[in-house]
Amino acid sequence: MRRLLTAALTTALILTGTPAMAAAPSPGGAGLGDEYYPDYGNSGYDVTHYDIRVRYTPSTDLLTGTTTILAKATQDLSRINLDFLLDVSSVRVNNRPATFAKEGDHELVVTPARPVADGAALTIVVQYAGVPSTKVGAGYTAWIKTPDGALAVGEPEIAWWWYPSNDHPSDKATFDVSVSVPDGVEAISNGVQPRPPVRETLGYTRWSWRSLKPQATYLTFIAVGQYDITQDTTEGGLPVYNAYSQSLSEDFRFAAEASVERTAEIVDWESTVFGPYPFEATGGIVTPPGTLGFALENQTRPNYSAAFFRRGSNTYVVAHENAHQWFGDAISVAEWKHIWLNEGFASYAEWLWSEKNNEGTAQEIFDYLYASYPDDAAIWTTAPADPGTDELFGDAVYDRGALTLHALRLAVGDDDFFEILRTWVAEKRYRNATTEEFTALAEKISGEDLDALFSAWLYTPSKPVIASTLARKA
Ligand code: ARG
Ligand code: ZN
Repeated sequence: MRRLLTAALTTALILTGTPAMAAAPSPGGAGLGDEYYPDYGNSGYDVTHYDIRVRYTPSTDLLTGTTTILAKATQDLSRINLDFLLDVSSVRVNNRPATFAKEGDHELVVTPARPVADGAALTIVVQYAGVPSTKVGAGYTAWIKTPDGALAVGEPEIAWWWYPSNDHPSDKATFDVSVSVPDGVEAISNGVQPRPPVRETLGYTRWSWRSLKPQATYLTFIAVGQYDITQDTTEGGLPVYNAYSQSLSEDFRFAAEASVERTAEIVDWESTVFGPYPFEATGGIVTPPGTLGFALENQTRPNYSAAFFRRGSNTYVVAHENAHQWFGDAISVAEWKHIWLNEGFASYAEWLWSEKNNEGTAQEIFDYLYASYPDDAAIWTTAPADPGTDELFGDAVYDRGALTLHALRLAVGDDDFFEILRTWVAEKRYRNATTEEFTALAEKISGEDLDALFSAWLYTPSKPVIASTLARKA
């Protein structure tokens, strides 16, 4: 489901003076024009659903399988790009064999036997195999081989290592993921289990997962290995699946459970602040120690590095990753430069959680952070609204993003601030968003001119002067 750049494409047709009706089928593009990652995603089609069916063997790290992509052409197409790194053995487009070739950093270029008409349904079947940990894209390997399995968990890159896709958050789709693994191994993904694991032949068991709300490609994950899975239902009726690596030592395991088992409570509290939970399931995965180096807000089911629990229970990371279900997952960035709309908001959710738990108010955290970073630190020399790829996950995006929200709260007052957050979700969920759309909404709801505030906090690469940017409401 793609909403980005349709206007740009239309403009391009007008500028070149080629009437769309008469245009000969042309190749789809090898990118979507994201300012930071121009060759991520592809143009010319819009994916509706991915059916990913793979088999994975931990001892060899061999992944084999078939992904079926249900899509719609958005132009007359002579060629279709996908983003993918594994070795492809066959591609079919609309039930005819297609030719294909690897190109560039991560492109799979497919030439259908006959052109596909604008607006036509498109079924692409890709059969493949490969050892994901041997593949390099964007200069590294995002796939993580663990002692007992693997993790396909990463941002912004991860899909290329395990399924072919239109890899950009502006083309969200629904997902069926099924993973066949040796009997006794667990395989977990997003959403709900439409059926229990099924024993197949040859000592393999197939695990099926389904996520039927629009989902970005990078938020689609698999975790394979020895996991203990807990299953429950929230008061509101949401299925909860949590999973703990069996390789966690006892103290890590207690701390992890004391945090992740509170997911339902935290999600219910966040629903009272942000509006109804946007998805059909919840839960969390705690990965083997020394493997994943971060946490990621995979849709319906965040993944946590074990390291988050090294100092005991930690509900802040649970509040952060689950806040992303609203900010980042339900509302996706239109382009990667808008990443503070994800990280600033999830970080501010931690401040609110702190306030609720009497561990420091949002105002105290604001004052503390404002005073504690040196004047020449990256948080001040980076503009959150345009951090660049090097600072995509830097302090300006996380802490200054949250500082910005608190500055907004002080300027417009609590009633307007929380109405802005809830309206933002209500208007943008299941879609894509930009910083400019958020600042416009804040001005609309508050009825105030917030140009000076947002200019200082979001767009200027220097430390905002509080007095001149915050009109504190009496
Ligand atoms: N979105 C994740 C979080 O803040 C961070 C992912 C960072 N990615 C990375 N490759 N380090 O929860
Ligand atoms: Zn985050």
